[in-house]
Amino acid sequence: MHSTRKVKDDLIYVGGSDRRLSRFENLFPIPRGVSYNSYVLLDEKTVLFDTVDDSIGRQFTENVLYALGGRELDYLVVQHMEPDHCSLIDEMLRRYPQAKIVCSARAVGMLSQFYALDVKDRALVVAEGDKLSTGRHTLHFMMAPMVHWPEVMVTYDEPDKILFSADAFGTFGALAGNLFDDELQLDSMWMADTRRYYSNIVGKYGAQVQALLKKAAALDIEMICPLHGPVWRGNLPVLLEKYQKWSTYEPEEQGVMIAYATMYGNTENAAQVLAGLLAERGVHNIAMYDVSGTDVSELVAESFRCSHLVLAAPTYNGGLHPRMEGYLADLKALGLQNRTAALLENGTWAPVSAKHMRTMLESMKNMTVLEQPVSIRSALADGQRASLEALADVLASQILA
Ligand SMILES: Cc1cc2nc3c(=O)[nH]c(=O)nc-3n(C[C@H](O)[C@H](O)[C@H](O)COP(=O)(O)O)c2cc1C
Ligand SMILES: [Fe+2]
Ligand SMILES: [Fe+2]
Repeated sequence: MHSTRKVKDDLIYVGGSDRRLSRFENLFPIPRGVSYNSYVLLDEKTVLFDTVDDSIGRQFTENVLYALGGRELDYLVVQHMEPDHCSLIDEMLRRYPQAKIVCSARAVGMLSQFYALDVKDRALVVAEGDKLSTGRHTLHFMMAPMVHWPEVMVTYDEPDKILFSADAFGTFGALAGNLFDDELQLDSMWMADTRRYYSNIVGKYGAQVQALLKKAAALDIEMICPLHGPVWRGNLPVLLEKYQKWSTYEPEEQGVMIAYATMYGNTENAAQVLAGLLAERGVHNIAMYDVSGTDVSELVAESFRCSHLVLAAPTYNGGLHPRMEGYLADLKALGLQNRTAALLENGTWAPVSAKHMRTMLESMKNMTVLEQPVSIRSALADGQRASLEALADVLASQILA
């Protein structure tokens, strides 16, 4: 049975959600599932914006057939060639043999690479600023290279002021009937997943997201239809403000995240003591994570949120605890910048973990590493409380400034 929703009288949501997949890209845990969004526009010509992942292919096909109500499909706009949106292109082209593919030049090659689809005869290749009239609607195409992949483009629907934004403004989280952001409680889970999606999937491409935001700023936008998660219309200023911060690597909040690694609990204890000292100094909402027990995608998201990072780790085989090393490598790969970090190391015979963490942080842009890491020999010694207090003083004074 079809499961569609009206976005506008002539715009139908035909996507669906997967709650079975445990990891998106076989990498990121998605306990709340994920949606693959797709939209049918019913104008004098009909348009389908992107398709979906194989996993929801049957639901999608039923939705498209229902939405078109027996009409032919004239255009399939392919904004992004990642398989989570392309698996059903082949199926659509077979069902609608006269449909034209509207896509960027780079997408044409990818269609043949992924699906052995030679679409040259039926591709309407568009470039920056090109327009397509479908009747009442005029679609404007804007290139958004590397707002996830190089072939990405987005589409602005002129009369209805809708931006079809591809992966930009997407989020993890399945949709349960409620399609619009103003039908959902955004504050906790949805915003955390939007942040985790942004930071891990497009976090590296801040400059390219900035370029897209500049183009978007020149448009009058009433609604954003992304390829994952809710359609945004009630909270656009909030979302755009978050994107502005994330894409310029500015912290969202003056706040501290303590990430610790531990084998036997002694480094954890030091992190706990420090957290208490920070709290006594008036720091609120302290976030603390064991890097072994927290998925690195959460650690990355929290690092994009907080202004201050406390990194605490044991020395491991003459180097850094591997989970801490993996997390910092991810931060570097995603290009995080502009944070202040405090280091806490542990080692029983030759502690070197602070040196390793410092080297990794200093290879990133604009990271301030506070001087004098706290160095523990196996377990916090009585005399070391003072050094944790001194560190808490510095952190609290910066965070509460
Ligand atoms: C596999 C392994 C390798 C280690 N390598 C080193 C090392 O190279 N240098 C060192 O000083 N301590 C090393 N240690 C000791 C730990 O860093 C030290 O015991 C630390 O206090 C553990 O902190 P924790 O209680 O938070 O797990 C190693 C421990 C393990 C289990
Ligand atoms: Fe993508
Ligand atoms: Fe996607």
